[in-house]
Amino acid sequence: MRVLGIESSCDETGVALYDTTHGLLAHALHSQIDMHAAYGGVVPELASRDHIRRALPLTQQVLDQANLSLKDIDAIAYTQGPGLAGALLVGTSIAQSLAMALNIPSLGVHHLEGHLLAPLLEEHPPAFPFVALLVSGGHSQLMRVDGIGQYQLLGDTLDDAAGEAFDKTAKLLGLGYPGGPAVARLADLGKPRFQLPRPLLNSPDLNFSFSGLKTAVLTLVKSQPTLDENALQDIAWEFQESVTEILVHKCLKALKQTGLKRLVVSGGVGANQRLRCRLNAAAGKRGIQVSYPRLEFCTDNGAMIAFAGAMRLLAASEQTAHGQQHASARQDHEVSSVATPRDYSFSIRPRWDLAELQAP
Ligand code: KG4
Ligand code: ZN
Repeated sequence: MRVLGIESSCDETGVALYDTTHGLLAHALHSQIDMHAAYGGVVPELASRDHIRRALPLTQQVLDQANLSLKDIDAIAYTQGPGLAGALLVGTSIAQSLAMALNIPSLGVHHLEGHLLAPLLEEHPPAFPFVALLVSGGHSQLMRVDGIGQYQLLGDTLDDAAGEAFDKTAKLLGLGYPGGPAVARLADLGKPRFQLPRPLLNSPDLNFSFSGLKTAVLTLVKSQPTLDENALQDIAWEFQESVTEILVHKCLKALKQTGLKRLVVSGGVGANQRLRCRLNAAAGKRGIQVSYPRLEFCTDNGAMIAFAGAMRLLAASEQTAHGQQHASARQDHEVSSVATPRDYSFSIRPRWDLAELQAP
């Protein structure tokens, strides 16, 4: 089965083709970073308009790369939520229109499920069950993952997400958008000099809190008589140490609590090299296997949506083959099947809790 995936939840248009027998066939991405940079953050209306411009040319690009045409696609998966409403509407309506015209099924995918499963696109994917650390611009969660759609939330952020903390700290340090890579680049040139707190490091639960850290950075910045390049580098260094120490500590705690020996890291902050270095060192000592997506699949992309959609459609078709109820009866995803009279309405889910997902 060949599944076209379309991602348009925020500031990246991603399109990919995943084949359940041959793996990832092609993927293409257009990042809107340059367009939003002038505003210091994502402008939702500009994002929506740009998705409109990019989605179909990118679709043609992946088809050309794979040497296939539209008639070779068996199903279309698209990001149904969570994300910016206008941006989601673009990907959803394009996916649904294409599916209608081609008379093939379409499936709304949860963006975070895409991130969560992205490491499974790599060679030697980890087996279920595993602990997942999902650290993106909007989320910082620890989960126990027992299979597709079998996610148990172990810990969550009480306020800012890890990526959000990077982005806000970047602003305080006068760096551009997106902040994560900019802070990381600066931090790599820094050295230990300042002291920032490690919020909730030793709390008995697996929750995170990063908003106090950002305030501590602000206080530190204001206390400096001069904010030269060295001071900026050293503040960034200490900030990155704080976030990565907390994330590593809570991952180890989650592994201990669940008794699992496999960890999967996904989401934009998963691209952070200091985090990977610290996690690998800690895991190596304890016989823990850590899996990451390749760097380009840490941040938003179409491949993770095509893959998550393909896994769900595959499971649904296997169930149908076994005479079980078709997945279109499920309420957590819209699955439009050619087997039933088509319902041309569709919806997006800008707010959508991952815990609401069910196994296919
Ligand atoms: O997963 P993602 O592309 O989008 C969301 O679904 O949110 O994550 C984007 C987030 C941003 O906050 C960005 O600053 C952060 O990931 N990020 C990083 C790095 N690369 C991206 N944070 C720290 N270090 C990085 N190298
Ligand atoms: Zn994302």
